[in-house]
Amino acid sequence: MYNIVRISGDGIGPEITDSVCRILEAAKVKINWIDARAGEAVFDETGNPLPEETIDAIKKHRIVLKGPLTTPVGAGFRSINVALRQKFDLYSNIRPAKSVPNVDSNFRGVDLVMFRENTQGLYIGKEHWVDEDEKHAESIAVVTEAASEKIITAAFEYAKKYNRKKVTLVHKANILKLTTGLFLKVGQRVAKNYPDIEFQDLIVDNMAMQMVINPGQFDVIVTTNLFGDILSDLASGLVGGLGVTGAANIGDDAAMFEAVHGSAPDIAGQGKANPIALLFSALMMLEHLGEHRITERIRSAVYAVLQDHKDKCTQDIGGRGTTKSFTDAVCNILED
Ligand code: NAI
Ligand code: MG
Repeated sequence: MYNIVRISGDGIGPEITDSVCRILEAAKVKINWIDARAGEAVFDETGNPLPEETIDAIKKHRIVLKGPLTTPVGAGFRSINVALRQKFDLYSNIRPAKSVPNVDSNFRGVDLVMFRENTQGLYIGKEHWVDEDEKHAESIAVVTEAASEKIITAAFEYAKKYNRKKVTLVHKANILKLTTGLFLKVGQRVAKNYPDIEFQDLIVDNMAMQMVINPGQFDVIVTTNLFGDILSDLASGLVGGLGVTGAANIGDDAAMFEAVHGSAPDIAGQGKANPIALLFSALMMLEHLGEHRITERIRSAVYAVLQDHKDKCTQDIGGRGTTKSFTDAVCNILED
């Protein structure tokens, strides 16, 4: 029996979390869920978007399944997603983008894994006004050798473990010579420890074009926080959109599993949310726990629904169904 902290989240969060938990139950995964709150709803109620009980539960149980959390744009409280990643030093944000059966996209055979540094860069949100009239703002990016080495090593270790051939490091060291320059320098040094894995570095703007022209050339990608955020949504777009890409945030002492996408307020409460992205995140969680057989059983059930019952899938991937019809179809296969 695993004790896992569950944060359902905002917007479509509760709908997709409910779907994923039903599917895990149908697959007979033994989980004791510890419910905890974070984000907009608990902020509106209590004035605190990240209650102490939630932090304590994560400290104690160390594995979290999390739905998306809304962050106010422009003003208001800072992202709780980012706060959780920083607080528990979840330095590896791992975001695979793999083509799924029977889902339309402009590309076939995409199979890449993005490693995004998860605790530093411009994402630390250290911004201030230079003048009193608020017409001049500045932002600070932080990159350290130690954190760069951890994420780049994690990317190479993953490549070694899963027999992947190439690691591409993405930077902007021509302009941001100190911050992303340091990231590149550490990458060049770490790469020397892995002579069997090809190492390539690309400047981020070229990378964006290359990913759209020929994504098949990429295997494992490692980059700083903001570039990884942007490029991982791009990578989701290569394989059918945000509805089908899961993600993991992994540190040395804790791990949190969440989809790449956000709380999708435009479709919340309408039964349109695709739970596959959070489900794939939950499968990364099961892998992390060493449950390989059950992970593959659930993945096969999802692929079977995509292949044979496309009408039960949600509209974002070309189906005519709802969150519930998809969930029912996967559960039926698992309970058979
Ligand atoms: P979003 O990822 O929520 O939505 C972008 C587009 O993709 C929308 O059209 C949405 O309907 C669609 N979409 C996303 N997930 C989907 C799913 N599972 N099934 C079907 N369609 C899906 O990005 P947006 O609108 O920029 O952000 C909304 C909120 O989410 C913001 O408050 C943002 O801060 C937050 N956010 C939270 C994240 C997290 O919790 N890790 C990550 C990204 C954004
Ligand atoms: Mg993002």
